Amino acid sequence: MREDLSTIIKAIPLPTVIIGVNERIVNANAAALEIFGDNLIGRHYVTTFRHPQLLDSIETCFRIGTDAKTQFTISEASRDRTMKASVSALELPDFSGIMACFEDITSVNQAGQIRRDFVANVSHELRTPLTAMLGFIETLRGPARHDPAARDRFLQTLESEARRMSRLVRDLLALSRVEGEERLLPSEETDLIAVLSTTVERLKTLAQDRQVEIKVNCDLDSCVLNGNSDQLDQIFTNLIENAIKYGAKGGVADISVSKIKYEAGLRSAAVKVEICDDGPGIDALYIPRLTERFYRIDSHRSRQVGGTGLGLAIVKHVVNRHRGRLKITSQLGKGSCFSVVLPLR
Ligand SMILES: Nc1ncnc2c1ncn2[C@@H]1O[C@H](COP(=O)(O)OP(=O)(O)OP(=O)(O)O)[C@@H](O)[C@H]1O
Ligand SMILES: [Mg+2]
Repeated sequence: MREDLSTIIKAIPLPTVIIGVNERIVNANAAALEIFGDNLIGRHYVTTFRHPQLLDSIETCFRIGTDAKTQFTISEASRDRTMKASVSALELPDFSGIMACFEDITSVNQAGQIRRDFVANVSHELRTPLTAMLGFIETLRGPARHDPAARDRFLQTLESEARRMSRLVRDLLALSRVEGEERLLPSEETDLIAVLSTTVERLKTLAQDRQVEIKVNCDLDSCVLNGNSDQLDQIFTNLIENAIKYGAKGGVADISVSKIKYEAGLRSAAVKVEICDDGPGIDALYIPRLTERFYRIDSHRSRQVGGTGLGLAIVKHVVNRHRGRLKITSQLGKGSCFSVVLPLR
């Protein structure tokens, strides 16, 4: 019968351990050995599992035969793993003991945490303009009712708060759309140069407002690739907008486009679009976090210039969808460069 047991637990995809009535481990599948070490067989379970919750469950199962489920954490050098354990009594004709089955639920827990953080962030971003709007509406109905100058001013603020909310909703929808189709390489052919020119044209007013000069260095008349023009526009819009917003006032936003014959990382020819500014730059500490949703280095400043911190998250997902690479380099006091490398067929 023990051989049968061995065959059965080998077939179970989850880490599984069987403990005999003498409280020693009689069998374990490869997945369990990987987690708890190679020399499990024959050892007392107490010396193998050092997690109090798990030991309690096994002990109770031995004493009164009740099945139990429990969770515990394994600390490893590089990370902590959260495990779920199901402990059940085994009563077979020629074997009695306990079977413990484990499941690594770290990523499930992390996904839950990311979802909760996301909802908290969205709620916070929506609540701030909403609170401001409700306050202004109250003032417009009360003290400012007969004051046309104040009414105009408040209406202007109401409009800018409403626009802020609408931008947030637009960006959230864009993010969810591109995340949904991230595995689907766009099939349509798009001229990157045409998209970039339209984006630059559209951002000229914003650049003028901040006295930023947009310079484009590009020798190519066209550059056709498999790409979604709206999404490529989202990449360029956010990167150029960032260079204008966070670069130096009265500075330059430098855009250069070049073809690469063979890009090793992509194993194909590629086109590189580099957008550099001469602003204060970004501390190396923050660079890895820039593409997280809602991440802003100086949230007060970014909020003042209308940012929600979703732009680079959208850029990252769009670049991924196009099987490209996003690289960020920056030197404090000198400026930042965001380069997007997209594969060409
Ligand atoms: N060129 C840049 N120079 C300095 N800091 C930058 C630059 N680009 C981005 N950042 C920093 O990275 C943060 C995240 O940028 P991101 O584009 O994701 O969000 P945002 O511009 O704040 O808002 P949104 O793009 O949603 O309007 C910004 O808040 C800013 O702090
Ligand atoms: Mg931005």
